[in-house]
Amino acid sequence: MGFKWADLFRFRKTPKSFTREVKSPNGRLVCEVSVMDGRVSYALRKDGKTLVNKSYLGMNLRGEKTLGYNLGAVRSQTKTVNEKWKATWGEAREIVNHYNELTVYLSEQTEDARMFTLRFRAFDDGLAFRYEIPPQPKFQRLTISDELTEFNIDNNALAWQIPAYQPDRYEYNYTRKPVYELVHSVHTPTTIELPTGHYLAIHEAALYNYGSMTLRLDQNHALKADITPLSDGMRAYVDLPFNTPWRVLMVGEAAIDLTTNRMVLNLNDPPHGDFAWVKPIKFIGIWWAMFVGEWTWAPGARHGATTEHTKQYIDACTRLGIPGLLVEGWNNGWEGDWLQNGATTDFLHPMPDFDIDEVAKYAAEKGVSLVGHHETVGFIDNYEKQMEEAYKFYSDHGIKYIKPGYANSRMTVNGRKEFHHSQIGVRHYQKALELAAKYHICLDVHEPIKGTGIERTYPNLLSREGARGQEYEGGALSPSHATILPFTRLLAGGMDYTSGILDVTNYTKRMATTIARQLAYFVTIFSGMQMAADRPVFYEQKYPDLYKFIRDVPVTWYQTKPLLGRIGEYYVVARQADNGDWFLGGVTNEEGHRTRINLDFLDQGINYEAEIYRDGETAHYRENQLSYVVESKRVSSRDFLDLWMAPGGGFAVRLKKL
Ligand code: NOJ
Repeated sequence: MGFKWADLFRFRKTPKSFTREVKSPNGRLVCEVSVMDGRVSYALRKDGKTLVNKSYLGMNLRGEKTLGYNLGAVRSQTKTVNEKWKATWGEAREIVNHYNELTVYLSEQTEDARMFTLRFRAFDDGLAFRYEIPPQPKFQRLTISDELTEFNIDNNALAWQIPAYQPDRYEYNYTRKPVYELVHSVHTPTTIELPTGHYLAIHEAALYNYGSMTLRLDQNHALKADITPLSDGMRAYVDLPFNTPWRVLMVGEAAIDLTTNRMVLNLNDPPHGDFAWVKPIKFIGIWWAMFVGEWTWAPGARHGATTEHTKQYIDACTRLGIPGLLVEGWNNGWEGDWLQNGATTDFLHPMPDFDIDEVAKYAAEKGVSLVGHHETVGFIDNYEKQMEEAYKFYSDHGIKYIKPGYANSRMTVNGRKEFHHSQIGVRHYQKALELAAKYHICLDVHEPIKGTGIERTYPNLLSREGARGQEYEGGALSPSHATILPFTRLLAGGMDYTSGILDVTNYTKRMATTIARQLAYFVTIFSGMQMAADRPVFYEQKYPDLYKFIRDVPVTWYQTKPLLGRIGEYYVVARQADNGDWFLGGVTNEEGHRTRINLDFLDQGINYEAEIYRDGETAHYRENQLSYVVESKRVSSRDFLDLWMAPGGGFAVRLKKL
């Protein structure tokens, strides 16, 4: 039986101070919640060592007194949940959700007597909590001008971070900084190396109808939630009842432990509806040819998305065994400087040289799924006016996947400029996702809101960009970037990194990788929509031996086992396909790295054929990108694989049961 707020009036006299502990199921992680001198706080320790010092909670509200003073805890409750659930797609089929929960009901000990609840969940690998505010006689909607949540950790800890509120959204290089330098806000997940040796990733789960959380030091020198403001400076306008997103602290003994932390998914609801129609997909695209300057999005002699090119690419899909094809630059709005056309972009009318009926019919005949494209340039009012009709238009043409884009430094809404990660942005992305679900359309969102696990509830959200991806190659990506992402951005869910660009030495868009490493990304960077991003000629004619791995690697996994990793240095992961085969991926930074992989995770007593795609001994991401070796070996669970990763290199391995 849940606690009813009406019962509260029976508990008028509340004690002056209150302290409760909630422990993780294995008892090692302990969260202490206390109410003292009218203020509520929490602290977190593991095995007796402090990870988070006493941290205060509360909210500033416009036109009201701060919520968080003169509080008394009127009641608390505990419960334990231990369940397993099945994911329809993802990095693991089965997910364990095991936590102890402490709910603390608070009321102001003043005439106002405003009330709210704090719900804490202690998992073996982290802590989460959120605010829950019920409607009350004098308190039915609120304007949150600041959330006062603190994460008061040792300021000498080192944080892997990207800056928030910047024109390129989440698309920055991660750097490691002491927490005491975080005077400007940073995005989450922020991954922190604590002086105790523990790793902490601060993030949020189930972000709905609220500004997204960034972090910065407050005037008390504690790390604090800085909720992305709207253009009027407010953080969120909400009607009660309202629950904030979960504030999440993932805890690992080693950095690699964080990479299989499933709290963010566990803190989201099961699917809202039947999503059996959702299918992860691998796709190529009329895309990289534009980046390297062979074709254009805009109409003209080099226009990419013509009927003829699209049919050629559909034929390439059938030859390559690739089920999907993205077509960018098919609609009106790409003339001239397309970044300037966002207010009038038209999502309903193809350019004259793109016959969508003919193309859709041809794709259907060949069994290829088209991936539609909507570049909104962040003009969400223009987009929302057309959105339903545009989804229906695609759906009527049998198109079940869309890549929407929001390439702009801000969103434009009724002439106002808003952050993509503000409450207005969050609401828009949600509206688009729910509408897409109505039309049975899956999304791969570029320039998205960060992942907070809502793909558990809306599995048609198959992927997002939301970090610097390979589009930035040609100068702006370093080899270490892909060794940092698994410990930072990828804790927020899958990413469309646009992997598999084998034209690594292209003079306009040179990759800071060896060629073998391009295959590794299909394993190291999970994505429910996995793009093989290069032009078909590089797969069919130039490197059919390397392409074989791209064809064979699955998109979604039965289970994932991270093997080795140090943030910024190297990362090696093993993932098992539904048929029992295993795939390995490894990437390293500019130094190069020799790895010895223990194959003890393979089924015992069975031989496997290891198809290895690795760097040549003299490979190097600048000087010798094209040196690679494809070889095969017979191995079993008793063997080790010694694999060399060149500077800026990597490897991919398929372990096939014999
Ligand atoms: C930015 C996206 O990230 C990219 O993939 C797309 O091609 C361009 N916008 C054009 O929409």
